[in-house]
Amino acid sequence: MPTEPLVRALARMRGHLLDPETLVRAVASGAQRGGRVPSVSGRPVRRVELRYVDLKAGRHLQLTSYDETQAHTTNVAAGEEAKVLVDDLLDQPFGSWHVETTTQTHQVRATKKLEAVTHTKDRAAPVEVERGHDKAKQRLLPEDDPVLRALGISDTHGRIKPTRQAKYRQVEEFLRLLDASIGDALAKGQLRTPTEDDPLRVVDLGCGNAYLTFAAHRYLGSVRGLPVRVTGVDVKQQSADHNAAVAAELGIDADFVVGTIGDAVLPEAPDVVLALHACDTATDDALARAISWGASLVLAAPCCHHDVAAQLRRAPTPAPYAMLTRHGILRERFADTLTDALRAAILRQQGYRVDVVEFVESEHTPRNTLLRAIRTGTPVSGGAVRREYDDLVATWGVRPHLAELLDPARG
Ligand SMILES: C[S@@+](CC[C@H](N)C(=O)[O-])C[C@H]1O[C@@H](n2cnc3c(N)ncnc32)[C@H](O)[C@@H]1O
Repeated sequence: MPTEPLVRALARMRGHLLDPETLVRAVASGAQRGGRVPSVSGRPVRRVELRYVDLKAGRHLQLTSYDETQAHTTNVAAGEEAKVLVDDLLDQPFGSWHVETTTQTHQVRATKKLEAVTHTKDRAAPVEVERGHDKAKQRLLPEDDPVLRALGISDTHGRIKPTRQAKYRQVEEFLRLLDASIGDALAKGQLRTPTEDDPLRVVDLGCGNAYLTFAAHRYLGSVRGLPVRVTGVDVKQQSADHNAAVAAELGIDADFVVGTIGDAVLPEAPDVVLALHACDTATDDALARAISWGASLVLAAPCCHHDVAAQLRRAPTPAPYAMLTRHGILRERFADTLTDALRAAILRQQGYRVDVVEFVESEHTPRNTLLRAIRTGTPVSGGAVRREYDDLVATWGVRPHLAELLDPARG
């Protein structure tokens, strides 16, 4: 992979960051390997986003910085104040910069030796910049994006249909999570840098009508400028036919495979596995496949959890937990929590770092948990997680489907 001095690549990015006419958005994330953690105003941050906004007082550079738990936003006037802010940020040891202008996207990743691996892509057509400071308008896919029209989320005038607002919010939430996860994984070298010859391979297991598959392709490819190839898998032939027709309409080169998540044959192992609201134990099938492929990044939003709930109904409740399972609704919610906690523990034992985060706000759907797993290749050591896991399944008398898939003898 060709490299150049990091300072030179960042000096080029500085020019883009300080151009209020052409900067669409920039994101710096992760930390350089072996370096200190980047900080803003003395606070450690894992990611910052920059964009220009038009306020009553004129054009300002808006900085949103994210620490482990929350986001902080500040605005500084374009010009001298923005220069000071940008120079401070460029001095921070971020692992990667992603800079979007109206005509290009740039990706800069710092190597261990403080060289830069850079990737620049021209956009098919210049984009317009949204400069409203209303946070609700910071959309990752604009309302008139052709993908949203083709999926029937937007009307022919490029406005979100009133009945599809919830779907649009889901797409946006999902893209935000995908963007942050991919940015972090690229910055930490946990995801390979894709090239035109070897694009990022993303598979969506249980893709249904492929809203999120198409949105992921569009966002990663056209907005983030990453070479990407998507494959959707669903057991329904009708989904594959519908999705192939939408792909043809959009001119997207995507594959749709008819088959079960457990058995579908893919030409190559994917880098990123998505499984969004795949029913019941289909999420376990997806996690088992992701592990067997050694996928670098897995985003799984589980759906219903009937399997463990049924096992809890059959097994005697251990003392003193009867109150947790006496009432049907509490038993179901507890089964959801137990299932996902066990899935996360299994993934950790398989060499993944796992976060369990909120997917969409809970008023939109109760199925709003997302497991985000990044392959580190190093299973948690010391046996403590395995012992806790064994104790937990023995206490409740359950056998998680994922464990059975990975090790039928042990379950
Ligand atoms: C609730 S839909 C979710 C669709 C899409 N992922 C989304 O979030 O919009 C679940 C999809 O998973 C598919 N599915 C469920 N179990 C499956 C399995 N074992 N193999 C393949 N597809 C499966 C269903 O056919 C359905 O299209």
